[in-house]
Amino acid sequence: QAPEAVSPTGSPTGAPANARAQSGQYLTTAQGLRLADTDHSLKAGSRGPTLLQDHHLREKITHFDHERIPERVVHARGAGAHGVFRSYGTASKVTKAGFLAADVETPVFVRFSTVLGSRGSADTVRDTRGFSTKFYTDEGTYDLVGNNIPVFFIQDGIKFPDIVHAAKPHPDREIPQAQSAHDTFWDFVSLHTEAQAHTLWNMSDRGIPRSYRTMEGFGVHTFRLVNADGETTLVKFHWKPKQGVHSLVWEEAQIINGMDPDFHRRDLADAIEAGAYPQWELGIQAFPDTEDQMFEGIDLLDPTKFVPEELAPVQPIGLMTLNANPTNYFAETEQIAFHPGHLVPGIDVTNDPLLQVRLFSYLDTQISRLGGPNFAQLPINRPHAPVNDMLRDGMHQTAVHSGVAPYHPNSLDGGCPFMAGQDVGAFVEVPEEIAEAIKERRNPASFDDHYSQARLFFRSMTPVEQDHIIQAYTFELGKCYEAAVRERQLMALANIDAGLCEAVAKGLGMPVPGATVDVPDSEPSPALSQLGGTWPVA
Ligand code: HEM
Repeated sequence: QAPEAVSPTGSPTGAPANARAQSGQYLTTAQGLRLADTDHSLKAGSRGPTLLQDHHLREKITHFDHERIPERVVHARGAGAHGVFRSYGTASKVTKAGFLAADVETPVFVRFSTVLGSRGSADTVRDTRGFSTKFYTDEGTYDLVGNNIPVFFIQDGIKFPDIVHAAKPHPDREIPQAQSAHDTFWDFVSLHTEAQAHTLWNMSDRGIPRSYRTMEGFGVHTFRLVNADGETTLVKFHWKPKQGVHSLVWEEAQIINGMDPDFHRRDLADAIEAGAYPQWELGIQAFPDTEDQMFEGIDLLDPTKFVPEELAPVQPIGLMTLNANPTNYFAETEQIAFHPGHLVPGIDVTNDPLLQVRLFSYLDTQISRLGGPNFAQLPINRPHAPVNDMLRDGMHQTAVHSGVAPYHPNSLDGGCPFMAGQDVGAFVEVPEEIAEAIKERRNPASFDDHYSQARLFFRSMTPVEQDHIIQAYTFELGKCYEAAVRERQLMALANIDAGLCEAVAKGLGMPVPGATVDVPDSEPSPALSQLGGTWPVA
């Protein structure tokens, strides 16, 4: 049993109830001993050495020495806010999730982040942004751990350490902080061409958002919803900002980085403090849960692919409003622990090979980042639903569990009548037949196509936006020392769009390579006949 419930989120209900208030009539030690002096250490005489006996000095310095915890291995730099999510009920035909039933209000905490920079890095760098939402639902905590770009770099989670190693600062000189301008990043994305689509989004204006408030969010993977009748639907989640989608131009981003590296963090906090609460509509693209899990030739298990909205419109299912800043950055924004495996009945995962690895990674990393297995007891991470988990002891245990039989069933402590398989309100994974090797179920034509969606995205841009993309590639590749890497990246651009490749090659003063795949002159509009969607939820 977790410790007695306190306000799990701090704001907007005020500081967490177990917070040590920094107020009172007098100063004390951590043991409550009243102090006479906290400015002068105990010395042997007025000019003598400091005495080990000074227990207050030792407590104060020792605690300070241990104030820092490891930053996140990725997404270290972030800003968060509290809010509420109100569901429209339009998703209740496809999911039994209680918080998506009609007109249910659920407290949330959102953390926005950059991916590659350290905790102290600048906000307006060219990078992907994280968009994580923790829904404190009555049925347990649900986390939607997404990004502001609908596709990801890699198709299989086993490559995640590699792409991150390639994009983080070089191990010798530790430069640069941002995802730009270094050989290893371009080496990786030109060798692993599945990363080309995500890279193109990074090089577009989406890589330098104007504000966290003006970003879209995407669950990226396909998830599986289950309704009360056990019927399943595949979905992709989208957050659409009510503020509109806006980006910076590169020169603005550069100037802001120099003048106010905390620009996005400040912008979010200031807006909320001023009462200009940002809002996002949550929507889903819904697809029939067919055996091949394909939709219009797109493998729904491939996280490097998005489904154009012309093919499957985003259907709104609720509205999120961020209305309170954190009371304490460390306790809330830093210690929050998201996990794509934090699910509720009615929402399940799929066999997307990237998502499957994420399911392992988040809990694993949080055990070291947050100092042991008990971080769910931290106020920001505590579920609003009752907890009866039989988990015991461990580093940083704060609960005082009663009873003698921490296992189930037991005949000694009484209590919980739960019997396996009988609890209709419980989370149950959707049973799935694995008839053949999972890998063979993926559609090679979709998984091996690394360029058509990058091309679709590029060609959907206005000429001004295309020009920004060309400038971004030229600038970033211009910082790449290795000519062979630049050449290989130009070959990938040739496979996306001849005009893009030619303009970047010209900017770099390099020869224009030919394409190695069939590049159509102009992409046919993605099945516009499908406009209006094929699988309405509402
Ligand atoms: C954070 C791993 C893919 C979005 C993290 C963290 C790890 C991680 C270890 C740090 C978590 C922490 O310390 O609390 C992975 C792995 C991936 C992967 C192994 C691929 C297999 C993705 C994808 C997305 C994503 C595809 C977006 C859909 C995020 C976000 C955070 C994060 C938003 C920051 C969460 C926060 O604000 O605390 N990831 N990640 N990751 N990841 Fe991933």
